Amino acid sequence: MITINLNMKIVSGSSSLMLSTRISEVMGVPMVHREIKRFPDGECYVRIHENLDNQDIVLVQNTHPDGNIIEYLLLVDAIRQYRIRSLTAVIPYFGYGRQDKRFNEGEPISAKIMAEHLSENVDRIITVNLHNSEIIKWFKVESKEIKAEVEIARYFERFKPDMVISPDKGSIERARFISQILGIPFHAFQKRRIDSERVEIEAGDIDVKNKVIAIVDDVISTGGTIATAAALLKNKGASKVIVGCVHGLFVGNALQKMQMNVDILFSTDTIENEKSVVTVAHLIGDSLK
Ligand code: R5P
Repeated sequence: MITINLNMKIVSGSSSLMLSTRISEVMGVPMVHREIKRFPDGECYVRIHENLDNQDIVLVQNTHPDGNIIEYLLLVDAIRQYRIRSLTAVIPYFGYGRQDKRFNEGEPISAKIMAEHLSENVDRIITVNLHNSEIIKWFKVESKEIKAEVEIARYFERFKPDMVISPDKGSIERARFISQILGIPFHAFQKRRIDSERVEIEAGDIDVKNKVIAIVDDVISTGGTIATAAALLKNKGASKVIVGCVHGLFVGNALQKMQMNVDILFSTDTIENEKSVVTVAHLIGDSLK
């Protein structure tokens, strides 16, 4: 039996209109009429155009890039002026997660600062694949991290991969888990970052000749990691390289950089773009019930 919360409504931030619509469809709950625009000087303006009294409100908004954080804060305040029953913030992609410690003296722990501030005035936070699951402890309200690995594994399945590769140590558990679902071996590369766009990758002892290889990562940003890993695999004779990630940031010319050696590239719809073919709407819907 499907239970519909008749008091639930979804407010979509401008980063997450497609995902919000999908969540609204899977849950059978309405979207709130809201307005979001920019003033000529670039500042953000938001307005809620309906009464939200006695409602359980779900705000869906990414916190990347920075402008989306401002929009999130303004929407929270606009929503809070009503006598709502609760406010759940769904942050599909939690930005600043990669600065989860002080790598060098004098740096902030950006992920902690963001988690603390985004917790203000909301009752609950739901997010998808944090860069480091430990970040969850920095939210000051009840919070949950949804994992999209099963959905990614299912999408990989159609390409019949022979092996799953983690491009660095950060994705080892993810790659291992997906390889178990698919019943194929997994292997982890060693990555050393040279700068924010370039990496060096050590493949180790693997035979990928004539094999279809699946690479999984949490975030693809500049595409440097994946472009390097895919080139290495093709040099070693891989017949196809299929890449799946949770959050497809694809900054600058990332897609162009990867296209030479990547045969198929896909991401989830935490960030909406031409590659976001795997939806996490039902996972978020399940957590909201
Ligand atoms: C690193 O720890 C992440 O898991 C990704 O591998 C990284 O953020 C990808 O960045 P880029 O696409 O810029 O190489």
